[in-house]
Amino acid sequence: MKILLLGSGGREHALAWKIAQSPKTERLFIAPGNAGTSGVGINVPLALDDFAAVRDFALKEQIDMLVVGPEDPLVKGISDYFASDPLTAGIPVIGPSKSGARLEGSKDFSKAFMLRHNIPTAGYFSVTAENVQAGLDFMKTLRPPYVLKADGLAAGKGVLIIQEMEEAQNELRAMLDGKFGAASKTVVIEEFLSGIECSVFVLTDGRQYKILPEAKDYKRIGEGDTGLNTGGMGSVSPVPFADKLFMQKVEERIIRPTIEGLQKENIDYKGFIFFGLIKVGQEPYLIEYNVRMGDPETETVMLRIKSDLVDLLEGVAQGNLDEKELEFDPRTAVAVMLVSGGYPGAYEKGKEITGLDKVKESIVFHAGTQTQDGKILSSGGRVLAVSSYGKNIAEALSLSFDNARKIHFENSYFRSDIGFDL
Ligand code: AMP
Ligand code: GLY
Repeated sequence: MKILLLGSGGREHALAWKIAQSPKTERLFIAPGNAGTSGVGINVPLALDDFAAVRDFALKEQIDMLVVGPEDPLVKGISDYFASDPLTAGIPVIGPSKSGARLEGSKDFSKAFMLRHNIPTAGYFSVTAENVQAGLDFMKTLRPPYVLKADGLAAGKGVLIIQEMEEAQNELRAMLDGKFGAASKTVVIEEFLSGIECSVFVLTDGRQYKILPEAKDYKRIGEGDTGLNTGGMGSVSPVPFADKLFMQKVEERIIRPTIEGLQKENIDYKGFIFFGLIKVGQEPYLIEYNVRMGDPETETVMLRIKSDLVDLLEGVAQGNLDEKELEFDPRTAVAVMLVSGGYPGAYEKGKEITGLDKVKESIVFHAGTQTQDGKILSSGGRVLAVSSYGKNIAEALSLSFDNARKIHFENSYFRSDIGFDL
């Protein structure tokens, strides 16, 4: 098969690494990709929002499958775009329709969907300029902290958790006034849930589903989960507290009602669903859906899938996922993210990365890198994910930390306490 994968982060390098291992993969293109993906496939300089260019490339190279890494093209409707053109309608897209992508693209839609299908989640109220007073009244029924979410995509910055009522009221008004542009013209106010989070991933053909290995990510920049939120500083899979009983509850109360809900509402969904969960006491609650894999979770989840990913993706495309095999690797996998100094605030790019050739027994997934004049340079805040296997978390981490220390670029930083709470 000829496969085109869209995206350029650590998630896409990990997906590309796994796709490239399949005997079914004849050629793999990554658009736009990064310095790492060029080691497992062919990078193609396409802009992800230029659907016409993606279509033209797919037709020129006779692509057999389009795999969409990030949410943005899905929310903008790339699946529908391919389906609506007779020339590309026969090319399966791994990633939901625009309608399905609302699970991530609109918090208001996703919360209402959870409510319609009795999926446990935090209580909420949706506010627009028309019902501000009702929103403020709802806030008064909550205990602090107050959770405010921009309805639309806001580059991961649209969620505010605020201790003081007055500050929350002011932020609510600022959001409705366009703090996050059109994304916060509707704001979801939520009850705060206290517990420990984990990410569960499902691959679905719209009827059947397979539960992939779960993972926990570390979102804060500082050790001990302190400081600003980032895209993710590391991940661990499996997650010890996501035991059999917990995962049974997740499947019965959250995963199955979601898949059945999509069917009942005639929403076309072929692809990954990321369930952002929180365990409150012993019970799972759904915080959010994403319509893609997680990053840096993919950098451990792919290590833990023993089966052929392309075979599974074919099952998604053909609607016979139930006939496919999914075997997990029993080992633990961890990923430690090397980031640019200053991230998630201002940081410098273009730093030369050295020492990659010294890495032994870890797999380095590139997140923000590019090649220039034969050198590998940093090109983003998150730069490299150093992923390793181990008998347990400690063993896998010690490999990742040892190898992370061999890699150099000016002002690099990583958290040396990934997995500390497990
Ligand atoms: P979201 O984009 O909805 O995943 O929110 C980002 C992060 O905010 C989550 O990963 C949680 O850490 C936190 N969060 C979101 N909603 C809640 C909630 N209702 N209660 C507690 N924490 C939350
Ligand atoms: N690691 C969280 C995310 O990908 O959204």
